[in-house]
Amino acid sequence: MPTYQFTYQEFKKESDLDSSHAQLLSIARKATEHAYAPYSKFRVGAAVLLGDGKIVTGVNIENASYPVGICAERSALASAISEFPHETIVSIAISYVSPDGANNMPAFPCGMCRQFISECEDRNKKNIVLILAGQTGTIVVVNSSKDLLPFSFGGKDLE
Ligand code: THU
Repeated sequence: MPTYQFTYQEFKKESDLDSSHAQLLSIARKATEHAYAPYSKFRVGAAVLLGDGKIVTGVNIENASYPVGICAERSALASAISEFPHETIVSIAISYVSPDGANNMPAFPCGMCRQFISECEDRNKKNIVLILAGQTGTIVVVNSSKDLLPFSFGGKDLE
């Protein structure tokens, strides 16, 4: 039977990561402070590393009309693409602070963000590495959003 598998990395602490991943995660962790999450109180921060070393952050921005809100991943990538459309996107770190204070396991991007990041990778013509962690504890590094979105739908399907 066909089987889907992918490889990812798991680390115990920030200092076990490559220095560029560690720096990006530290910025994403801090960015959670800028989240606007008055309804869920689940504060998410993202940091995008560009090919020239620039870093762009994003946060979740909620709305009283709930579906209007945007996730941190998409807000960071939208800023990065808007401000620096010609730069390659290398990686994105995503962290969060949950209202119950349990922040030691990664939160994985929602389905809509996986779809969004997947198209950013197509546009980028290169994978975007995902660095996922809470404020402490286990850190997961995934090589591409596509690893988290098997059998994805994309621009190629509309050709
Ligand atoms: N959220 C993100 O920012 N990223 C995700 O990948 C998952 C969820 C936000 C959306 C909403 O503001 C809050 O977290 C609770 O769902």
